[in-house]
Amino acid sequence: MGYKVVVAGATGNVGREMLNILAEREFPVDEIAVLASRRSLGTEVSFGDKTLKTQDLATFDFTGWDIALFAIGSDATKEYAPKAAAAGCVVIDNSSLYRYDPDVPLVVPEVNADAVLGYAKKNIIANPNCSTAQMVVALKPLHDRAKIKRVVVSTYQSVSGSGKEGMDELWDQTKAVYNPVTEVPPKKYPKQIAFNVIPHIDVFMEDGSTKEEWKMVAETKKIVDPSIKVTATCVRVPVFVGHAESINIETEDFLDEDEARDILREAPGIMVVDKREDGGYVTPVECVGDFATFISRIRQDSTIDNGLNFWCVSDNLRKGAALNAVQIAEVLGQKVLKKG
Ligand SMILES: NC(=O)c1ccc[n+]([C@@H]2O[C@H](COP(=O)([O-])OP(=O)(O)OC[C@H]3O[C@@H](n4cnc5c(N)ncnc54)[C@H](OP(=O)(O)O)[C@@H]3O)[C@@H](O)[C@H]2O)c1
Repeated sequence: MGYKVVVAGATGNVGREMLNILAEREFPVDEIAVLASRRSLGTEVSFGDKTLKTQDLATFDFTGWDIALFAIGSDATKEYAPKAAAAGCVVIDNSSLYRYDPDVPLVVPEVNADAVLGYAKKNIIANPNCSTAQMVVALKPLHDRAKIKRVVVSTYQSVSGSGKEGMDELWDQTKAVYNPVTEVPPKKYPKQIAFNVIPHIDVFMEDGSTKEEWKMVAETKKIVDPSIKVTATCVRVPVFVGHAESINIETEDFLDEDEARDILREAPGIMVVDKREDGGYVTPVECVGDFATFISRIRQDSTIDNGLNFWCVSDNLRKGAALNAVQIAEVLGQKVLKKG
């Protein structure tokens, strides 16, 4: 016996990837329902070798369904997640709505799988922000060995991180640069994204940082350790899929770069590709469609006693969203629901 699974937001970037990953990882699905807004009623989406028709989330009855993977943005989540949870269906949510709620676990299975057990207070489990998910997979094994005191991270985030509209804007603006008959002014982003980079993701906070940067700080503390200090600069770049991060860590104990490389090689969810030669590192286009978080350019930071630098790349629609959500569903299945 397997699970009755709902994917809400099945027509979106993350929802489609959730369906791919459920099929690829052979998640024990007995029955599946794919939901989106009324606009998409009847739209066909793929699940393995099947084609499914999208239903309207607004009229869907969650009674009797086991797990709902939500990827519909915070506003719609606010309306529908409590309904699903009240009907007894465990919601695994990709929006930021519940991430900082003390009654909702925020989970990256490689880091804090046991936190899933706290799901019952609200019947909801939160999935972290894409840039946080890949970073904490790399931080955790280093923290366990040498205790990370401080993290300085700069991100290079792809446009798929802001949904279908972000991808369309990069595509249309890029074409318009070569064919200036049609002008494509910035709409989804505050400035032109084609052939440009934008140091601004989500809204500005009072201290001058952005909400995306704040999320990396707050979520790292909740998932890994509240004592870790994080400072982030988040940048949108004209890449379709795959987020990259330049990460600097300062640790309490000395950690040699070779030992760090060995630790990361053994760590779950990580692939180390680190040769000091042309092309001996991973870039976003190479990580697309992969499950792993790739680590390259590991080297000592000689400006402090206990410091390391490295480069971290992952498919933001996978580890940053859909894969992590399916991994949470797997842990929930193994530890709690025990079907399949
Ligand atoms: N992309 C990433 O890397 C990433 C990473 C982590 C978390 N997330 C989060 O995941 C969520 C989805 O992101 P995405 O990139 O997949 O966005 P997207 O490509 O724009 O897709 C949005 C999906 O939500 C559905 N939707 C929107 N409003 C709805 C409503 N009122 N009722 C029912 N369905 C509604 C859309 O259905 P229609 O097609 O019918 O409009 C579509 O299926 C967001 O909360 C985002 O913050 C994304």
